[in-house]
Amino acid sequence: MDIFEKLLKHLGPIGEHSDRAHGYFAFPKLEGEIGPRMKFRGNEKIVWSLNNYLGLANHPEVRATDAQAAADFGMASPMGARMMSGNTNYHEQLENELSDYMGKEATTLLNYGYQGIMSAIDAIVGRRDVIVYDAECHASILDGLRLHPGKRYVFKHNDMEDFDKQMKRATELAKNQGGGILVVTEGVFGMAGDQGKLKEIASFKDKYEFRLLVDDAHGFGTMGKTGAGTGEEQGVQDKIDLLFNTFAKSGASIGAFISGEKAIINYLRYNMRSQIFAKSIPLPIVIGHLKRVQLMREHPEMKAKLWDNVNKLQNGLKARGFNIGRTNSPVTPIYLQGDIPEATAMCLDLRENYNIFCSIVVYPVIPKGQIIYRLIPTAAHSDEDIELTLKAFSETKAKLDEKVYEVAEIPMV
Ligand SMILES: Cc1ncc(COP(=O)(O)O)c(C=O)c1O
Repeated sequence: MDIFEKLLKHLGPIGEHSDRAHGYFAFPKLEGEIGPRMKFRGNEKIVWSLNNYLGLANHPEVRATDAQAAADFGMASPMGARMMSGNTNYHEQLENELSDYMGKEATTLLNYGYQGIMSAIDAIVGRRDVIVYDAECHASILDGLRLHPGKRYVFKHNDMEDFDKQMKRATELAKNQGGGILVVTEGVFGMAGDQGKLKEIASFKDKYEFRLLVDDAHGFGTMGKTGAGTGEEQGVQDKIDLLFNTFAKSGASIGAFISGEKAIINYLRYNMRSQIFAKSIPLPIVIGHLKRVQLMREHPEMKAKLWDNVNKLQNGLKARGFNIGRTNSPVTPIYLQGDIPEATAMCLDLRENYNIFCSIVVYPVIPKGQIIYRLIPTAAHSDEDIELTLKAFSETKAKLDEKVYEVAEIPMV
């Protein structure tokens, strides 16, 4: 049998809609400068889909630094993996700055966040070790778990009773096998926007022996007094043994980093396969990151403006009777009821008639009959953007309730 045959029969849960959705709901092209107003199919939309939390993507100093660094060094430099030929003073300077910002002894850069956290998990655990992780952890963490040859226990999302139960089992097993325990959770959960219970988990260190790895992809730059993240927000940054962050969100770039104790970071530097066997981050990106970190640290007003917009959007939605769930971060989900054809018809109406571009989540990512619109407010959004969006959601929700969007099939786009 041709191994490709089954791929053509089943394109996957999202791929099966590709003939109707491609270019519109899937793989849409947003054009123009990154920001709250961009063009989609030639028309201006208010965009709520980009994790450009602080508005750094188009900050004039960021754009100037990126361009100058690309002109100075080109995109190739340095060639090779960090360990072989791809290290520079700039890479090390960035690591030092990040350690200082995160309040950690050391940092190592990761060329991509996804592979980086997978590799970090892979490098830390052996077959005698046990991983205990939150049920709503990101795909990159779940893929890291797949590499683990030993046992893993999942605890119900943010449920400390269940965490305690799983830790008891993990502790017993690890003791019998002569291994240790790695606990993995997130600072801010990217779909629902609720913070991980870092403080509560850290307090279990009095009861069990474990090390804590936190993925704070959405918390970096947005949470805590200085933007150092959710650990800072909850006053437990020092209890996080390994802190993972990406530049793909607040940093408005690409690449990531992991911070912690010097000796452990040094171990990771020499043992993360995705870093040893892959090219290091190009210099223009590293130099661009240095500028971004400087701006994050020196301009707290960017974070203040983000939160001003978060509060306006979230309070406005709540006042209009929308269910935004348990978010306590900038991530703003709107929970509605409806099937996929209705959800897509509503999304189409929002995009075409109200000029609102936001991401929609439906089955199989969430249970059948539910719709989640996920809005990401940024420091760059204006009061007018927020007002127009609140009005658009009120009107389209009324139509949804009146069954105006009840169609048999996903609309053709
Ligand atoms: C929670 C979380 N972890 C890890 C990643 C992967 O990071 P990157 O985009 O830098 O590969 C993402 C997505 O960007 C994420 O949301």
